[in-house]
Amino acid sequence: MYHTAAIVFRDGATRFIKVEPNELLMDAAQRHGVNLPVDCREGVCATCRCLREAGEVEVEYIDEEALTEEEVQAGHVLACQTRLKSSASFYFDIDSNVCSVATEIFAGTVSAVEQVSEGAAILEVTLDDAGAAMHYLPGQYARIQVPGTEEWRAYSFATGKARDGKVRFLIRLLPSGVMSDYLRDRAAVGDAIALEAPFGAFYMRQIERPLLMVAGGTGLSAFLGMLDELVEQGGCDQPIRLCYGVNQEQDLSELGRLAAFADTLSDFAFEPIVMNASEAWQGKRGVVCELFDRDFLAQPFDAYLCGPPPMIEASRHWLEKREVGDYRLFFEKFVSS
Ligand code: FES
Repeated sequence: MYHTAAIVFRDGATRFIKVEPNELLMDAAQRHGVNLPVDCREGVCATCRCLREAGEVEVEYIDEEALTEEEVQAGHVLACQTRLKSSASFYFDIDSNVCSVATEIFAGTVSAVEQVSEGAAILEVTLDDAGAAMHYLPGQYARIQVPGTEEWRAYSFATGKARDGKVRFLIRLLPSGVMSDYLRDRAAVGDAIALEAPFGAFYMRQIERPLLMVAGGTGLSAFLGMLDELVEQGGCDQPIRLCYGVNQEQDLSELGRLAAFADTLSDFAFEPIVMNASEAWQGKRGVVCELFDRDFLAQPFDAYLCGPPPMIEASRHWLEKREVGDYRLFFEKFVSS
């Protein structure tokens, strides 16, 4: 016997789906054409987080990096880990249009690959059908099939839109990893490569207040996409501050592109912050959130955070504990693999 799940979105849209016994909420939603945000499917990234508003559920696993104890107590669950014990209702803090866009697989060709720092590379893909409409929102991500393998990995777009059929990604180079090994050892212009998009609930909302952007490592990619889109739209009338944290200065990437955004956008500034800086480093050093500009945050603002879970948690915690203006928080945690 199945149960019914009501899926309620922030814009008020509601979808009702049938969930089979033992079926995961995420799978049931997808079976009904509701593409909930999903990434790891393992209870780690919290991309699929939602609030259980009614009903009984059984939750398989929640990583401590994904939800805090308080969030679990408050009823937050992960759709990729949740089965229904009764009919139930879930609230997703995203707009329904993000989920109703079905993902699509696109064939493409590697048109550029460039190591931009010791720890990161830019991958540019040109879609084979340049006229194909690849719809995504700046901040969202694609899943990319690593050429020559059956493995797919998720990366945020570093471009606001596919222009001339081209999209770019800033990708972390791990000492060992299926995509990192490909980029370092085998990637060549002309390689066939497949992408699936769009994914994710981390995207730029209508800008009505000053923006705080906080990037950890290659979490910068999502912000490159957002800023690119703002430039394309002709600018932004709100101030934007980007705090860009990395472990060591050799990891800093795309500083030239950030400087170009600062030249183009009327009130955009960025600050590279290095956690384990060498003696020679002249810039700011330490933990990103400890260096937030308190004067800037005294006014109402929107905060966008994208990076590794510890950085997101530290920043959220900092904002919760300090006297700052009224703020809305959007974040994406990612685990490099
Ligand atoms: Fe559910 Fe990552 S997709 S926690």
